[in-house]
Amino acid sequence: MKIVACYSNKGGVGKTATSVNLAHALARAGRRVLLCDLDPQGASGFYFRVKPSKKLGDDRFFTDVKRFTDAIRGSDFDGLDILPANMSFRDFDIFLSRMKNSRSRLKKALKAAQGDYDVVLLDCPPNISALSENVFRASDAVVVPVIPTTLSERTFEQLVDFFRDEKLPRKKIVAFFSMAQATKKLHAETAERLRKAHPKRFVDVTVPFSTEVEKMGVHRAPVATFAKSSPATEAYDALWRAVAERL
Ligand SMILES: Nc1ncnc2c1ncn2[C@@H]1O[C@H](COP(=O)(O)OP(=O)(O)O)[C@@H](O)[C@H]1O
Ligand SMILES: [Mg+2]
Repeated sequence: MKIVACYSNKGGVGKTATSVNLAHALARAGRRVLLCDLDPQGASGFYFRVKPSKKLGDDRFFTDVKRFTDAIRGSDFDGLDILPANMSFRDFDIFLSRMKNSRSRLKKALKAAQGDYDVVLLDCPPNISALSENVFRASDAVVVPVIPTTLSERTFEQLVDFFRDEKLPRKKIVAFFSMAQATKKLHAETAERLRKAHPKRFVDVTVPFSTEVEKMGVHRAPVATFAKSSPATEAYDALWRAVAERL
């Protein structure tokens, strides 16, 4: 079982769009997938029409295997299950930081799902905290959408620095360009600079800025279900192949 996180220390860059479309691409390719919605806002569950867990979770959520597995829901797609966002994720960070061995807690919890899934995808909230450290340690790959703009470039550098300072393996980072606009000179220049600075971190995949991706909210479904041959669908398929090569 491989664990793949969709992560960025920046909000609104396409983490959830990536999680949802990668999960769907994987299930279509015959893999058994569990998508964990770790963001209390519950956006990836929303796209898959899975309601947030009503039960208020508590500190035991990730230490109690039964609680964890009981919360998993099916989706409309074969081979694709969802762990909906849980209110307890709001305080998850505080809980993790208080716990002994907190840095590997998530990894232990996810082991409960081993055998049932080929891939566990984590849709993460945006920050560098106890939860992110758990995510980085638990994951085999950390997929990072980067909008090719100056601010995103800066936050990407911060992420790479964090990995170096914490002695986390930087090879786990799989970055790609998200919401890229071919007509923007700044996008092209920033992308080129980032690729040059981090040739091993960036895969050769660019998800374009696409109204089809925006329409996921209207359809409440992955982009491939209503825009089969769109550039965005092709890009997410390519992204999955690129991630698989790294695993
Ligand atoms: N490739 C894209 N093209 C256009 N809009 C996008 C694209 N990816 C994401 N969006 C939109 O940008 C917003 C933020 O995306 P989201 O995936 O929720 O980001 P995050 O999870 O990083 O906060 C959403 O409204 C989404 O529809
Ligand atoms: Mg999100």
